[in-house]
Amino acid sequence: MADLHVVALPGDGVGPEVTAAARMTLEAVARLRRHRIEWHERDIGYAAWRRSGAAVTEETLEACARGGAVFLGAVGDPRAEPLPPAQRPEAGLLMLRSELSCFANLRPAKVDPTLAHTSALRPEIAAACDFVIVRELTGGIYYGTPRGHDAEAGRAVNTLTYTDAEVERIARVAFDLARRRRRHVTSVDKANVLEVSRLWRSVVTRVAASYPDVTLEHMLVDRAAMEIVTAPGHFDVLLTENMFGDILSDEAAAVCGSLGLLPSASVGGAVGLYEPVHGSAPDIAGQDVANPVGAIRSAAMMLEHSWGLADEAAALETAVSRVLAGGLRTKDIAGGGAHVGTVAFAAAVTEALR
Ligand code: IPM
Ligand code: MG
Repeated sequence: MADLHVVALPGDGVGPEVTAAARMTLEAVARLRRHRIEWHERDIGYAAWRRSGAAVTEETLEACARGGAVFLGAVGDPRAEPLPPAQRPEAGLLMLRSELSCFANLRPAKVDPTLAHTSALRPEIAAACDFVIVRELTGGIYYGTPRGHDAEAGRAVNTLTYTDAEVERIARVAFDLARRRRRHVTSVDKANVLEVSRLWRSVVTRVAASYPDVTLEHMLVDRAAMEIVTAPGHFDVLLTENMFGDILSDEAAAVCGSLGLLPSASVGGAVGLYEPVHGSAPDIAGQDVANPVGAIRSAAMMLEHSWGLADEAAALETAVSRVLAGGLRTKDIAGGGAHVGTVAFAAAVTEALR
């Protein structure tokens, strides 16, 4: 029995709907195991900008840093298009990740057996997909300076930097994780072109020496992008930098059947941040059609990583799989089954927990 304190940031688009769905299932699992959830909501993204003129306020950042865990729905809104970069919804999320120092973003991409036929790939290829992307989250080109756009000069710049220390700490997360899985790390870079990737490769190779029981291979990012769709079963732990990880995780989601299915945990700092991999999907917001599975699975990751409640996390995962196996799906998933809304799907998961 524990008190579990969540700072929830529902955000924009479908964010509030999937956050409510995740909360419903989290409360249900907590009730069964006699934990108490303390849930506090705050604004982020365009929702925050409309209220305060900032994509995330100082008070929200402080509340998150003091929370037991942070749960985020999604950020992004087409109405934010004209805003300067620092006020855009995405900037709020990047500031939060950086403030919390959660440098290790874990994105499991596993094809649910009952959904293999819904993958963009042939089912027999998709079925073998079970890997985790370990994405560096607080460095690289997302954060490098100088950055800016000089419209008069017709020139814009972003900067890609990594230090030995940044690469070493994320590599250790990947190798530690591989030890609990199939003991294989694929480190993805662009070392045939980028100096930063050459540094990345040499540091990862050095870290690998202290994990003799784990095999390491290096792979160029273009080749990795191809291999994810031709032989996803090849990967166990895919270690990569911030932007490559962003791109490859959407690709991995398509292999799994829908972007709406994948969860993520961002760890490494004092407080973990949990968010579905999908974005705010403004075109379907407010219609009760968003897939809550990525958000519910992110809540499961929160149970495990922030509070060490592995049994509770497994119970929630199993309930989701059971509902999918029973044929219920939101309409983003192709290939038949009974289509239900966001709320009905979450209610079914709650039911399946019993
Ligand atoms: C993700 C998203 C974010 C990212 C955006 C919303 C800033 O695409 O979490 O994958 O690029 O990291
Ligand atoms: Mg992304």
